[in-house]
Amino acid sequence: MPLFRRLAVPALLFSASTALVYNTFDGEGFPACYNVTKVLSPTSVVEMVSIVKQAAKDGSRLRAAGKGHSWYDTQCSDAQTVIVRTEGVHGIYDFTLPSGATDGSVVVDAGVTFFQLAEYLHERGASVGYTLTNWNISFGGSVAMGAHRSSIREHSMVAAGALALDIIDGTGNIRHIERDDGNDEWLAASTSLGLLGIIAKIKLKIYPDTKVYAKQDTLDEKDVLNGDIYGLIAPFATANLWYWPYQRKFHHRYYDVVSPDSTPQEGFQNTFSVTEVEAIAARTLLDSGKYLPTSNMLAEEIFFGLWSKPNFREKTNNTEIHSWPVYGWNYDVLIGGLYPDQKPEWDYKLAGLTLELAFPVTMANQMLKRVRSLFDAELSKGIVMTSTYRSGINIKFGKAYFDLLGQGTYNTSDGADWTKGTVMFDFPSYRPTIGDHKRFNEQFYHKVANTLIAEFPCRPHWTKNSRDVLTKSVKNLDPDHLRRFNEVRKRFDPDGIYRSVVGEILGFYK
Ligand SMILES: Cc1cc2nc3c(=O)[nH]c(=O)nc-3n(C[C@H](O)[C@H](O)[C@H](O)COP(=O)(O)OP(=O)(O)OC[C@H]3O[C@@H](n4cnc5c(N)ncnc54)[C@H](O)[C@@H]3O)c2cc1C
Ligand SMILES: *[C@@H]1O[C@H](CO)[C@@H](O)[C@H](O)[C@H]1NC(C)=O
Ligand SMILES: *[C@@H]1O[C@H](CO)[C@@H](O)[C@H](O)[C@H]1NC(C)=O
Ligand SMILES: *[C@@H]1O[C@H](CO)[C@@H](O)[C@H](O)[C@H]1NC(C)=O
Ligand SMILES: *[C@@H]1O[C@H](CO)[C@@H](O)[C@H](O)[C@H]1NC(C)=O
Repeated sequence: MPLFRRLAVPALLFSASTALVYNTFDGEGFPACYNVTKVLSPTSVVEMVSIVKQAAKDGSRLRAAGKGHSWYDTQCSDAQTVIVRTEGVHGIYDFTLPSGATDGSVVVDAGVTFFQLAEYLHERGASVGYTLTNWNISFGGSVAMGAHRSSIREHSMVAAGALALDIIDGTGNIRHIERDDGNDEWLAASTSLGLLGIIAKIKLKIYPDTKVYAKQDTLDEKDVLNGDIYGLIAPFATANLWYWPYQRKFHHRYYDVVSPDSTPQEGFQNTFSVTEVEAIAARTLLDSGKYLPTSNMLAEEIFFGLWSKPNFREKTNNTEIHSWPVYGWNYDVLIGGLYPDQKPEWDYKLAGLTLELAFPVTMANQMLKRVRSLFDAELSKGIVMTSTYRSGINIKFGKAYFDLLGQGTYNTSDGADWTKGTVMFDFPSYRPTIGDHKRFNEQFYHKVANTLIAEFPCRPHWTKNSRDVLTKSVKNLDPDHLRRFNEVRKRFDPDGIYRSVVGEILGFYK
């Protein structure tokens, strides 16, 4: 039927043209979708609705696109697809935070970024708390893909901060879904992978703005591997570890609230900005590390040294901050952004590959020891493996949060105890700009992924894993959760216009 319609009604919005490759934030050479016929940039929800209605009529496939902050070619299906960018749909409405109240709410359109909302809220004495990801990422894209920060004590998955969602389903109807743990429509919408439709609006919980501190300690590897990892993380509002396998060290970063009057400092964090000189030096060194492990060893040593110091500046006068702890406003300290005189590393072709898997936090020691043993196995062959990323291997955490496809869900058929929360192994690595772009000892990275997936009940992050990793991970997902999700999906999108590679791997379109 879709084909018939396309032939019968020629003057359509989506009349097929030659397909183009749509890239991730890393640009050329980093495809998100291979077969894109059009990229549309609506400026309102009403316009998005009419695009979906037209697509439903034509039988065209559609995928939303936020800020392109993903790593792999899994956004669309491989069949012809129209991209609907949400960047131009960025209204913020219905702010309420009565004075003295502990929380309130605000409604954002899909394309609103963390950066935009943080600025809006800070001006009004509010913040979204800890349900954060990095700055130039849309709320629609984050909620769709189950994105999260790192905390055991507080909810830090973006969807956990959502009170209601408006989703444009596969026929162009807007479905309003309120948070309700007893309703499979909510439990599917909470981590929808974009398969139920375009998330158009999100009602978010907000809090009075706070000042926070950031502190960082350096720990010996053996003290973490044999230590109380839960105890390093759970006491704080948000905390994580960065692992430096060649240094055999961890950085332990943690944050919590301080009274606003206790400090005049206004620290502003940067995670991704670099100067051109730094970028060229790093790129040259890391490219040579494709062939020479000594370059990677040197790179890890330099990165470790740099990352030991505060990656913060004083916001009011743009001067460097030299000592821990650093204090400042909630969002500036927890996320921050770019320094005015620098660019993000990917603008200088410093691009990465990654892998992210979530494990029950009760298995944190066992998992990290297994990772250590994989590094050691290379060492015993005379091959030194390192972290080739400027902030090391990111070990993040999550408070248990129940929905059908989230990384932090519980009550699953694997019998693992997910109720204490999760530990995530997020292993970014440098992708050489030269030759075949393969990393030094490329097979090591696949061995790490395959071993962890085979030996642990671990779950994938939905935008930080290759097709291969996602495919191998399916065995670790609860078949009943997948079935319940797919029942909701079929009601929302009976013709599968929002189909993606991720959805195909999960078996939803068989
Ligand atoms: C530098 C960097 C830092 C990151 N930090 C974190 C982090 O701290 N924690 C974390 O969990 N993740 C992190 N990520 C991953 C990121 O949060 C996710 O990939 C997120 O989905 C990207 O959102 P986006 O707005 O860029 O959307 P895109 O990359 O454009 O889209 C991602 C997916 O979401 C779908 N989508 C987008 N908008 C909508 C919508 N409105 N409705 C339905 N579906 C939609 C798209 O079709 C696509 O499948 C990071 C990524 C990068 C590059
Ligand atoms: C945010 O993303 C847009 C593309 O959507 C890009 O043009 C802009 O430079 C980015 N901003 C920063 C600060 O990286
Ligand atoms: C693009 O999609 C069409 C069908 O929609 C398919 O016939 C074609 O093979 C696809 N091309 C690629 C490169 O995958
Ligand atoms: C920048 O501001 C901080 C905090 O107000 C202050 O301590 C510092 O001396 C200032 N530095 C310069 C160079 O102005
Ligand atoms: C957990 O599973 C049991 C049995 O399958 C079910 O009765 C219960 O409602 C589930 N709890 C949640 C939060 O889904």
